[in-house]
Amino acid sequence: MSEPKPSTADILAKIRAAKPSVGSDAPAPATETPTAEAAAPKVAPAAKPGSTGDILAAIRAQGAKSGAPAAPATEAPKTTAAPKPAAPKLGSTADILAAIRAAKGGAAAGPASDAPTAKAAPAAKSASVPASSGAKLSVEEMLKAVRGEKSAETTAIVSPTTPVKPALPPIPVKPPSAKDKKAGTDRRSFVAICFTPLFFAFALMAATSLNWLLALARFMFPNVLVEPPTKFKIGPASDYPLGGVSTKWLAARGVWIVHTDQYKGQNLIYALASVCTHLGCTPNWLEGEQKYKCPCHGSGFYINGVNFEGPAPRPLERVGIKLASDGQLEVDKSVKFQEEMGQWADSNSFVDGTLA
Ligand code: FES
Repeated sequence: MSEPKPSTADILAKIRAAKPSVGSDAPAPATETPTAEAAAPKVAPAAKPGSTGDILAAIRAQGAKSGAPAAPATEAPKTTAAPKPAAPKLGSTADILAAIRAAKGGAAAGPASDAPTAKAAPAAKSASVPASSGAKLSVEEMLKAVRGEKSAETTAIVSPTTPVKPALPPIPVKPPSAKDKKAGTDRRSFVAICFTPLFFAFALMAATSLNWLLALARFMFPNVLVEPPTKFKIGPASDYPLGGVSTKWLAARGVWIVHTDQYKGQNLIYALASVCTHLGCTPNWLEGEQKYKCPCHGSGFYINGVNFEGPAPRPLERVGIKLASDGQLEVDKSVKFQEEMGQWADSNSFVDGTLA
């Protein structure tokens, strides 16, 4: 009697038996069927799968053999009770991978899995994968499982002793207080107001009003020109000898005190205003030349004040002078006497020089 055709599960069981690590951490007693255990010693021990190509080649070789002798394990009492359908011939890689996937699920399901476990135990999950995960193993993971390798994800899930670093709680962020919010809002509002056209208009109006106010205050306090008194005493007549021009009061009072007899032969003492009759400059008394010389346009005046050169149109002016009660000469600049007007004949424009 010919032996039944070995199923893919049987082939995988043989492969696992050849390589103890195959099947990852799945507990052997729970997943391995007695048939697989019995068949394990019959598998060639040197057929330890290496690469995926080797595994697939072995599976194809096993599937190609219709009457493979390496399947006595299928004669287990539980599996032989019912006639098994002929195992499909594993031709393409897709068929082989589907068989591996089905076998993987069936192997983890425990001893209840039989040859057709690929269809009979869809709910059975790999022992290495938690039942709650429900993740379907990819082809790559199954190949790794066949090689005895564990993926990092599977290891992390399977190993309950792997310390899981707890996630740190988020650092609490202190919310800004109402005071901070109000301060920030105030600053932003102030800056926004400062750059508005209305703000510039009000600032300009305020500056203009301030200028007007300052001008009004200045108007209330006008400039006051403090002038020296027009009347002042210059001492006794004896201080002014004949033939001399005193410049003692030129800087302070603006007058020359002249004692001369060169005007119509009269010995007189009088005061000449130091103002050029051309345009108002102040002439200089030149003692060596015995004349007043205007530095502006060159007008010249004799010692008695009569003009003789330059653009000056008329003689210098005299100011009032008299002999005070105390014997001093008193000058009064509030009154002027012009020679061309015949005013030099006024007695208030001179003092008798014989008194000196
Ligand atoms: Fe004295 Fe013109 S101002 S000469």
